Amino acid sequence: MRIKSICCIGAGYVGGPTMAIIAAKCPHIKVTVVDTNESRIAGWNDVDVSKIPIFEPGLSAVVAEARGRNLFFSTNVDQAIEEADMIFISVNTPTKTYGLGKGMAADLKYIELCARQIAAVAKTDKIVVEKSTLPVRTAEAIKNILHNTGNGVQFQILSNPEFLAEGTAVSDLLNPDRVLIGGDSSAEGQEAVNALVEIYANWVPNNQILTTNLWSSELSKLTANAFLAQRVSSINAMSELCEKTGADISEVARAIGMDSRIGSKFLKASVGFGGSCFQKDILNLVYIAKSYGLHEVADYWEQVIIMNDHQKRRFATTIVSTLYNTVSAKKIAFLGWAFKKDTNDTRESAAIYVADYLLNEQANIQVFDPQVKDAQIQNDLNYLGSRSESENRSGISCAEDAYQACQGAHAIAVLTEWDEFKEYDWQKIYDSMQKPAFVFDGRNVLNAEKMRKIGFIFQAVGTGK
Ligand code: NAD
Ligand code: UGA
Repeated sequence: MRIKSICCIGAGYVGGPTMAIIAAKCPHIKVTVVDTNESRIAGWNDVDVSKIPIFEPGLSAVVAEARGRNLFFSTNVDQAIEEADMIFISVNTPTKTYGLGKGMAADLKYIELCARQIAAVAKTDKIVVEKSTLPVRTAEAIKNILHNTGNGVQFQILSNPEFLAEGTAVSDLLNPDRVLIGGDSSAEGQEAVNALVEIYANWVPNNQILTTNLWSSELSKLTANAFLAQRVSSINAMSELCEKTGADISEVARAIGMDSRIGSKFLKASVGFGGSCFQKDILNLVYIAKSYGLHEVADYWEQVIIMNDHQKRRFATTIVSTLYNTVSAKKIAFLGWAFKKDTNDTRESAAIYVADYLLNEQANIQVFDPQVKDAQIQNDLNYLGSRSESENRSGISCAEDAYQACQGAHAIAVLTEWDEFKEYDWQKIYDSMQKPAFVFDGRNVLNAEKMRKIGFIFQAVGTGK
């Protein structure tokens, strides 16, 4: 079966970039990305392609090439479903905020809505692809909904989890370590798997396209994120021990990373991992393990989250204790708000939790992030609900640039590892601050020796005093 038309439901951080690359690499396939969020779709259709709603290096060029040729963004979900041979579901699967599994399980209401809409609209056979990250065995529920419509349409369900990381989405999509496709073992299931393999084969070498059964594919995605997050919590746990003992976490990371069994990637100590997925996916894994009565398995993975929360809190308390146990009415500059560099995404960013802690201590915070604006920062804090909107507005604001943010500040907290932070005129920044001037580098981006030479009292995660 040769796919001619694809629909992707969900024009977010995954749906947008993933479909842009498929469209760029497969000009013979019409790709329509749909979303119920009108302003998001309007953003994707903005004539000024630099204004697309997601900031990712290289993405606007890919969109500019394919948009209007074989890549379309629309709010007409029904029409796109009807026209497509293959439908990707790429909607959000956040942690449940209500009812059974509140705070742990994945909320699958958006997935179910998509399945019901596909069932209601489809008049011809479709391959439905799970692109969102889902609990293992979700395909079973989707199958049930689709197969009980009574309209005679045949559906095949595939699992094709996405492994891209934000900030490097385009290169991750162009050169993936692997593409994973799970499907049914029946002849029809294998035909559907092959149809998706054929799409990726336009640019991914065959030996990097892995096919498995549905449940292995679904569970591999949660497992990959759990292992990655676990590495960050492991190195962060050691960073605390480094601070007590005089060992330097960067040196420890380098030393262990040269062991080829451990590997050197993902060993950067930090103020804690953020992003929309690590925490949600591990909580989901913990919930699934508990629901099968596997309490030791659940406790094991939950520790990754407990460590991460500890690291964020520890960073904030260190700032307060170092500043003579009070930050009340003191200006603290935040460099960075996004959860990592090269993205405008702030979901679950460690910066939000550090700010929340410091605002409770009555600090005045001024933030500079190259891609995040004041409205987003206020939203993030209002969503936490610790303070009223006006209290947040008076406690935290956004600066035009880093120099303004740091002017008159008692301390700087580096919350995102933007490359440009290394290039600033740090002498000028130091001169404009209250003395003694402190830098707390939560992302290990600045040069400790250089900072100390300038006169800063410098502290980075894991490097000790
Ligand atoms: P997102 O919130 O950025 O985008 C989801 C979009 O789906 C939203 O724009 C929303 O309006 C839309 N949507 C929800 N229900 C809809 C419906 N019924 N009809 C039409 N549109 C609907 O989320 P995201 O970051 O793109 O993540 C999507 C999924 O991919 C999640 O399961 C996530 O775990 C997974 N994932 C994310 C990343 C990442 O880097 N963000 C990477 C890999 C996997
Ligand atoms: C992560 C995974 O890397 C992707 O493979 C996956 O597809 C995605 O989650 C997802 O499912 O959403 P992402 O969250 O975009 O990608 O970014 P990462 O590079 O993994 O960083 C996550 C967080 O960990 C960031 O806050 C980052 O600063 C932090 N981190 C990462 C560290 O603190 N230390 C490290 O060594 C690496």
